[in-house]
Amino acid sequence: MRIKQVKSEKERFMDLLYLGDEDENMISKYLKKSNMFLCYEGNELVGQITVLRLANKIYEIKNLSIYESYQGKGYGSKLVKFIFEHYKNKASVIILGTGECDKTISFYKNLGFTYFMRKKNFFIDNYDHEMYEEGKKLIDMLYFKRVI
Ligand SMILES: CC(C)(COP(=O)(O)OP(=O)(O)OC[C@H]1O[C@@H](n2cnc3c(N)ncnc32)[C@H](O)[C@@H]1OP(=O)(O)O)[C@@H](O)C(=O)NCCC(=O)NCCS
Repeated sequence: MRIKQVKSEKERFMDLLYLGDEDENMISKYLKKSNMFLCYEGNELVGQITVLRLANKIYEIKNLSIYESYQGKGYGSKLVKFIFEHYKNKASVIILGTGECDKTISFYKNLGFTYFMRKKNFFIDNYDHEMYEEGKKLIDMLYFKRVI
C-alpha cells in the first residue's frame, strides 16, 4: 500500500469523495482548502482521506472513503493512522464529524477517538435531501476527537 498527497485538481476524485459525503455543495466548501491523500494498492486507487486545518494545532478529517470492493480490509484504519503520523508535529488534536451510524462510530472509536459534541439537526439544516445510513435517517452530527 502506498499513500500520496494530491496537490491539484482534487475534484478529479469526486466519485470517491461522494462515498464519504453525498453532497457536492458541502464538498466544495472544504475541498480547495484541504489536504487530500490517496491510497493505492499497486496501481489501483483504493481510497482517500481529506483533512482540513481548522485552527492552530486543530485538524479535521472532512472526508474518508474506501472503494466498496476494498472495504473491511484495513485500508481506512491505515489512512487514519497515516494522518496521526503525518500531522504529529503540526496538530495536537484531530477531530471529525459523523452521522449516527454505529459501524462508522465503532470504526473511529477503535482508532482512539472519543465523543465530545453533538450538532443538533445538522443533516436537516445543511443538506437539501434526507440521508440514510444503515436504514436510519441522519439528523445530528456527532463530533469525535483524538489527541495526537
Ligand atoms: C468507513 C470506512 C472509511 C472504513 O474503512 P475500511 O477500510 O472499510 O475499514 P477497516 O478495514 O480499516 O476497518 C474495518 C472496521 O471498520 C468498520 N466499518 C465501518 N464501515 C464499514 C464498511 N462499510 N465496511 C467494512 N467495515 C466498516 C467495521 O466495524 C470494522 O471493524 P472490525 O474490524 O472490528 O470488524 C469505509 O468502509 C468507507 O469508505 N465507507 C463508506 C464511506 C463512509 O461511510 N465514510 C465515513 C467516514 S466520512
